[in-house]
Amino acid sequence: MDVKGLVLSGGAGTRLRPITHTRAKQLVPVAGKPVLFYGLEAMAEAGIREVGIIIGDTGDEIRAAVGDGSQFGLEVTFIPQDAPRGLAHAVLTAEEFIGDSAFCMYLGDNLLRDGVASFVDKFREGSADAMILLQHVPNPSEYGVAELEDGKVKLLVEKPKEPKSDLALVGVYLFTTPIFAAAKALEPSWRGEYEITDAIQGLVDGGHSVEPHIVTGWWKDTGQLVDMLEANRLVLDAIDTDIQGEVIDSKLEGRVIIQAGATVERCHIRGPVVICAGATVRDAYIGPYSAISEDAHVERAEIEHAILLERSSIIGIETRIEDSLIGADCVITHSDAIRSANRLLVGDGSRIELL
Ligand code: TTP
Repeated sequence: MDVKGLVLSGGAGTRLRPITHTRAKQLVPVAGKPVLFYGLEAMAEAGIREVGIIIGDTGDEIRAAVGDGSQFGLEVTFIPQDAPRGLAHAVLTAEEFIGDSAFCMYLGDNLLRDGVASFVDKFREGSADAMILLQHVPNPSEYGVAELEDGKVKLLVEKPKEPKSDLALVGVYLFTTPIFAAAKALEPSWRGEYEITDAIQGLVDGGHSVEPHIVTGWWKDTGQLVDMLEANRLVLDAIDTDIQGEVIDSKLEGRVIIQAGATVERCHIRGPVVICAGATVRDAYIGPYSAISEDAHVERAEIEHAILLERSSIIGIETRIEDSLIGADCVITHSDAIRSANRLLVGDGSRIELL
């Protein structure tokens, strides 16, 4: 069966401001690689070749990063969505691209340890009209939750106060043509969006078979800072040591990736850590679960459990920087101009916690 891919990479990204003022959230690197690329690799691994990518205001950036998709073994078509009107609206925007194929829809800011191949295979072997990916979670009232009956999906409830199941909807779905009629029949929800959960409920109510597939490997939606750091931690947990860059008078512990063109001098690096090409790290401590992006610079500072984006620098800071996501082209440095005072030039919507 022909299965196309549909990756959603538009959206507003309000929960990840201020990073999303200047970049697509799907391009924030997790363990040194944009989140979106993990999804595209998962598509290729599942044997999908033709992928449509929904884009919004950040479309140019997504196009530049993905190119024609050949770096992933995919043929990519970009599909502009006029505004982020909801996941079901994104599906309708892609109707012409999808034609009468089945398709795997993947939220571009989601990460799954085990990809989507087993999900897509199960769908290809069966005869369901749709399949949804679910995961048992300890806090179902924070998710869209599915209730099952006789192995089929019966009811979908968005953030239920008293959940009747602990099966949360993961951001990956498999659909066939009936989803378009179900999406067209929708009214906007209370938050003004065309909700995919309502469209799937429409399929169930219309007598179409919607099958569940439960994932056991970890899954992360990186829409917020804590989840982004958690995804970084989970991906870094599985890296293997690979030292290509220059390492001078440094102590490396645990699993560490130092890409070609990076320089590490007089440092203590305790993995898992990734230091990307062009980064320089001197007289510093880089602790577990840190990812230093291309051309970033850390000197006389300590960081741990943090993502530092491209070209940013942290220089001469005495207190350790932890649990942080630092955008591109930032400078964090020590000032002794005024004692016991902090001097800040901070972008809109930033959050800084000072000791
Ligand atoms: P969400 O994270 O649910 O929405 P958002 O990106 O608007 O973020 P926020 O709530 O913080 O403002 O979106 C999930 C994925 O789907 C994400 O990769 C963006 C994408 N998306 C679209 O492409 N089109 C849309 O209309 C919506 C709502 C999301």
